[in-house]
Amino acid sequence: MSEALRDQSCRGMMDALARQGELVVIEDPVDPVFDVSAMFSLVDEKAAVKLSRIKGYDMPIFGNFLSSLDRVAMALDVPKADIQKTLLASVHKPIAPVLVEEAPVQQVVIRDNVLARLPVPTFFDKETGPYISAGMMVAVDPETGLGNASYARLKVLGPNEALIGIAPNHHLAIMARKAAARGSNLRFAVVLGAHPAIQLAACLYLGLGDDELHCAGALLGEAVRVTCCKTMDLLVPAEAEIVIEGEIHADDVILEGLVSEYHGMYEDYGTGVRASFDCLTMRKDAMFQVIEPGYHAEHIYLGGVAIAASLKAQLSRSMLNVGEVAVTASGSGRNNVVVQIDKPRPGQARRAMAICWGAVSIIKNVTIVDSDVDPWDLAAVELAKATRMRAERDILIVTDLPADRSEPQEAGGVVAKVGYDATCKAGDRKEGFDKALPPAASYERMRALLAKTRPDFV
Ligand SMILES: Cc1cc2nc3c(=O)[nH]c(=O)nc-3n(C[C@H](O)[C@H](O)[C@H](O)COP(=O)(O)O)c2cc1C
Repeated sequence: MSEALRDQSCRGMMDALARQGELVVIEDPVDPVFDVSAMFSLVDEKAAVKLSRIKGYDMPIFGNFLSSLDRVAMALDVPKADIQKTLLASVHKPIAPVLVEEAPVQQVVIRDNVLARLPVPTFFDKETGPYISAGMMVAVDPETGLGNASYARLKVLGPNEALIGIAPNHHLAIMARKAAARGSNLRFAVVLGAHPAIQLAACLYLGLGDDELHCAGALLGEAVRVTCCKTMDLLVPAEAEIVIEGEIHADDVILEGLVSEYHGMYEDYGTGVRASFDCLTMRKDAMFQVIEPGYHAEHIYLGGVAIAASLKAQLSRSMLNVGEVAVTASGSGRNNVVVQIDKPRPGQARRAMAICWGAVSIIKNVTIVDSDVDPWDLAAVELAKATRMRAERDILIVTDLPADRSEPQEAGGVVAKVGYDATCKAGDRKEGFDKALPPAASYERMRALLAKTRPDFV
């Protein structure tokens, strides 16, 4: 087991990042109002962050572990090229959590003013309050008893109250409405600082009733060790930093004001709903986790990597020749997808576009490339579009498709979506699509020669 998977906390990865020079540690006091956010924004994709002293609080802030694909691979303990394969395998072969006696996350139990203890940052100038941005929400469907883990923001409104901003189609929102229909609130827990592989699992787009914590077990290669919450019968990762226990009042709506989104701009979603809290458990030296929201690397990659794997799962159900699927940062980790298809048969490119649009509402622009094009490599994708596409034939625009509420160009609930078929078509070029390159044997000879002086180039 690697350093990053030493246990199911985030501390092994933090130590490993520090050793390889990828942890920025700031010992000077930092203000939670805007300054924490500015520091995370500045460091962004370059490294993880630990802020040892936060003005007015005695708890450090940390985060930004998953702000690059290399660090996502590190968290999963696999090569970068295997991220998607690993996430997919976790969906197909989940491992159920295991209940343990020893729960570091319950070393301290606090029953009042729970949110007031936490150094919650205020991130952006037009937002209207401090947000818990790295809260992994764990809940159980009141109808089926099946679990769910996902991310949602919490705007702190008071020592025991927050607004929770969940899109109506998200499983947590559906479960909260189900509870309200039965005349009760939805009990839930907010988990901060679980192992990064558990955090990644929570971002997967699964079917309602498929429990992300089971996928997390597969990612870790062992069952997630869970403990029972103090105020309810709900299981949470035992080695996380902090757990906040409470309930969602689905019928109690509250105006939110402007809030940042993954595309880097503000949205006005109108209302969120009220969440109240009655218990906080934590490690005795707990650290408060922050994900810098808006168009920032960790927010982008967490969503993008998980959406890509989920789309790959959907596409593979009906198309056996689908390769890697990329949801790139330039498409804000949500709106653009590039799908690799090996020797696409007639109509398959358009079929893949339709599957992507149907599977995940946030996806807008779909590009299809051949298997020799790395879908994560933007320059390669642009080259394919420049050389393998005839615009009048290969661009498909479908107007008035349902738009996710976060869609930057959403109008009246719909938006136009575009598909680019950037694959080679037989007969397009009498010279063919072969790349102009020296023969393989010459490459071999020169690679050996170059390795003597510049091994890093080979
Ligand atoms: C860091 C991060 C923050 C997120 N914040 C929110 C949020 O505030 N509201 C929301 O509706 N979705 C948010 N999402 C997206 C959902 O977590 C994501 O769509 C998730 O898959 C939904 O869970 P479900 O599949 O169980 O419905 C966020 C995602 C990430 C990665």
